[in-house]
Amino acid sequence: MLGVRSLARVAGELRRDITAARDRDPAARGVSPVEILATWPGVQALLAHRVSHALHGAGLPLLPRSITMVTRTLTGIEIHPAAAVGNGLFIDHGAGVVIGETARIGDDVTLYQGVTLGGTGFATGKRHPTVQDNVTIGSGAKLLGPITIGHGAKIGANSVVIHDVPPNSTVVGNPGHPVRVDGRRPEGPDADWVHLPDPLAEAIAGLASRISALERAVAEINSGSPSRPRAPAPALSPVAEVSPLRPVRGPNPAGG
Ligand SMILES: CC(C)(COP(=O)(O)OP(=O)(O)OC[C@H]1O[C@@H](n2cnc3c(N)ncnc32)[C@H](O)[C@@H]1OP(=O)(O)O)[C@@H](O)C(=O)NCCC(=O)NCCS
Repeated sequence: MLGVRSLARVAGELRRDITAARDRDPAARGVSPVEILATWPGVQALLAHRVSHALHGAGLPLLPRSITMVTRTLTGIEIHPAAAVGNGLFIDHGAGVVIGETARIGDDVTLYQGVTLGGTGFATGKRHPTVQDNVTIGSGAKLLGPITIGHGAKIGANSVVIHDVPPNSTVVGNPGHPVRVDGRRPEGPDADWVHLPDPLAEAIAGLASRISALERAVAEINSGSPSRPRAPAPALSPVAEVSPLRPVRGPNPAGG
């Protein structure tokens, strides 16, 4: 049953959550713990989760899920009561964060708004990600399925990750792929993810060149048949140039 030890544990976890917010949110520097607790939705959602998780563990019906529902309404953060969350989790901004039932989160993890730790379908059993210690997950990233995100990994904003992520690596894009492992670019024949063929750009380029060929053919027909009244030749447009998007270097966007 829920007892004094559970409450003491929740209090200890809350202390670490507030410290995590002060350490990792530049906007929280110099803000008192009471103010953080009163106004940081990520910290409030975690406190509510710590309580609902303890009640869920004690076998209480209804109340844990009700706490989750109210918390989601107030903060936009939904953490299933059964999800196991380690110490020092920091959820920055919060809105749109979903953490599924069988998700496991290690210590000192940082999540930004819009992160989903979700399942891939209607599978039962372990179906949500396991996130090891010191992982940072950028805003809007979707991590789907019973995958493991290795300790110290960084997941880029808006990535969609459906495979295990090696420790100490940076994964970006959809599908998520490593662009750094232990600080170095991955090497090998399959490592050049940045210069993958772009099927949309290729299809548009193909269409553009066919239109140009048709314009030339129409112009030739019009100029070569004296019996027919000549229609003015359509102006020939040059073949449209379609270049695939390339990632652009810029200031590091990490941070709130
Ligand atoms: C993934 C991230 C942590 C990488 O930071 P980093 O370790 O400093 O790595 P870099 O900035 O050197 O980026 C490494 C490569 O990934 C690319 N990249 C970085 N973030 C990316 C993203 N979200 N989507 C696609 N590509 C990305 C970079 O262009 C770079 O490519 P290159 O090697 O071809 O030049 C960071 O870019 C990010 O997305 N942080 C999330 C921040 C966030 O959500 N903030 C919300 C605040 S409200």
